[in-house]
Amino acid sequence: MPLRNDSDNWGGVAKTLHWSMAGLVFVELVLGWMAVAWPLTPTKLYLFIWHKSLGFVILFLVLIRLVWRFSGPRPRFPDSTTVWERWSAVIVHELLYAILIFLPITGWLFNSAVDVPFRFFGWFRWPALIPPDQAQAHFLADLHIFLGWSLVVLLSVHILAALWHHAVGHDSTLRRMMPGVRVTPKGS
Ligand code: HEM
Ligand code: HEM
Repeated sequence: MPLRNDSDNWGGVAKTLHWSMAGLVFVELVLGWMAVAWPLTPTKLYLFIWHKSLGFVILFLVLIRLVWRFSGPRPRFPDSTTVWERWSAVIVHELLYAILIFLPITGWLFNSAVDVPFRFFGWFRWPALIPPDQAQAHFLADLHIFLGWSLVVLLSVHILAALWHHAVGHDSTLRRMMPGVRVTPKGS
């Protein structure tokens, strides 16, 4: 399978990044809620180490993904998609990218403001971004939680739209994101 996108298909790199990140983001959301809800035991600490470390992996991957995205073409929309669908897809995708960047950054800022020492997967001390500040910490925690829920809402819209294109619109939107699948030019 070609690694680069072309005018009709996502390439292998974009598909690999999309599906590996989809899995990681799902695990990350579950880890975030579990870590908050877990009683104060050593397990809670490990859940937070995993949540924070994976959050930084996601930040790294999304930055690579954006560089890749702008270094080649984006497949054009199947002919049957309406102007409304194209605009809403662009807005939801841009918002998803923005949230995937700001969520880990607010987590990082919050962790710095509450002054909890954090070691990346237990290996090495991760630097703080800002000095300790309890007032800011409250605001940043609220922002992190708000962005987490915004991500859940956007993902629900995104996934429903992908399934709708496949099951109701019968176009190639979902198929061409699937591993190993290539659609013909202007496939709809
Ligand atoms: C955490 C989960 C997910 C995230 C963060 C995510 C994020 C994204 C983003 C940012 C794009 C835009 C790609 C670009 O234009 O550069 C995209 C495209 C796409 N996603 Fe997802 N996605 C997730 C899960 C899913 C799932 C579960 C499905 C299927 C049910 C799906 C189906 C698609 C499809 C079909 C496209 C291509 C749309 C097009 O060709 O216009 N995604 N995804
Ligand atoms: C894409 C990356 C991330 C996602 C999707 C995410 C998502 C979440 C979610 C859903 C929660 C639970 C919120 C609640 O309902 O109480 C949470 C909590 C938390 N996250 Fe993240 N997070 C990410 C990255 C990070 C990073 C990088 C850090 C720190 C370095 C971090 C630190 C925290 C902390 C400390 C909490 C607990 C907040 C509290 O005490 O209320 N997160 N996160």
